[in-house]
Amino acid sequence: MEKLRLAMIGLGVVGSGLLRLLDEKRAVLESDYGLTYDVVAVCDKMRGSIYDPEGLDLETVLTEGPLSDKLKGTRDLTSFEVIDLPDVDVVFEATPTNLKTGGVGLEHARRALSAGKHFISTNKAPPAIAYKELESIARENEVYYGYEGTILSGTPAISLALNGLPASRFFSIRGILNGTTNFMLERMETEGMEFDDALALAQEKGYAESDPSSDIDGWDACAKLVIMANNILKEPITPEDVDMQGIRGVTLEDVKEARKEGKRIKSVSSLVFDNGRLKARVGPEKIDRTDPLYHVHDVTNALVFETDTTDTVTVMGPGAGGRSAGYAMLYDLVEMHRHRTRLYK
Ligand code: HSE
Repeated sequence: MEKLRLAMIGLGVVGSGLLRLLDEKRAVLESDYGLTYDVVAVCDKMRGSIYDPEGLDLETVLTEGPLSDKLKGTRDLTSFEVIDLPDVDVVFEATPTNLKTGGVGLEHARRALSAGKHFISTNKAPPAIAYKELESIARENEVYYGYEGTILSGTPAISLALNGLPASRFFSIRGILNGTTNFMLERMETEGMEFDDALALAQEKGYAESDPSSDIDGWDACAKLVIMANNILKEPITPEDVDMQGIRGVTLEDVKEARKEGKRIKSVSSLVFDNGRLKARVGPEKIDRTDPLYHVHDVTNALVFETDTTDTVTVMGPGAGGRSAGYAMLYDLVEMHRHRTRLYK
């Protein structure tokens, strides 16, 4: 198998997390999967870009940035010029999410998939807004479109459902899909913090999205539900189909009241089949300790799959973070490679 030529667009915490893993895991990916690669281009709006067909030294990119004198190659390429490079096989992308328009992430996805490049991204907006279109472009061009990192970052989510529970009928998928709101509600419950103080703390710790409305009004979780409904349940819903309620209305009194009853208020996201019809909902729920989601703490995320094969399966783990989200992209690379090399028949 020829070496794959990889390009990375977006060199923030997630993009850097992936590059670090590509550097660290080179030997095991070759020995276990026959997967070999060079990262030939990196491009970041703030940090600059570099393209070297011979492959970039990842340690230098990570420690000194794309503009380091130690790197040779072509500079000042735009993200679209990087996608268009004829010798790039796989485009990784980790740009900020814009759930209103899809933003530049949607343009990157369209451009890369239409050009016949495999495209692996952690940006939630493109698959949430344009799932059908992007899947169809990928199918037409026979390329892989990977977005495992959009749900629960590196904790297996889409892959668990599709690879781990094949041929199952899903009755419901429920989860804690947003770490920021889970963190806030827990601080309110355990430390008696007011809503605004809990939000300020989440922002200080870097958990909340740059526009916190995405977290507290439910948009982030809504996008994740739409992706899972389309991909796992094959139900072509859009964000408008989700009954979405944020946590702004949850007061400290509500949280204390629930606690007295031995319950917790959590922002629960759910996809539930009711008489054959899918109901998608994001919103605060009062749940008791028999519910696996009761035990999800801090910024941790979780998903509970209820199926006709193995009953209830719960997965819990990080839902954000550079290394974890970078790992989700590494998963997609391995998955793409398995398809490409027919390790899957
Ligand atoms: N702001 C998101 C969260 C990040 O709090 O879960 C991961 O999508």
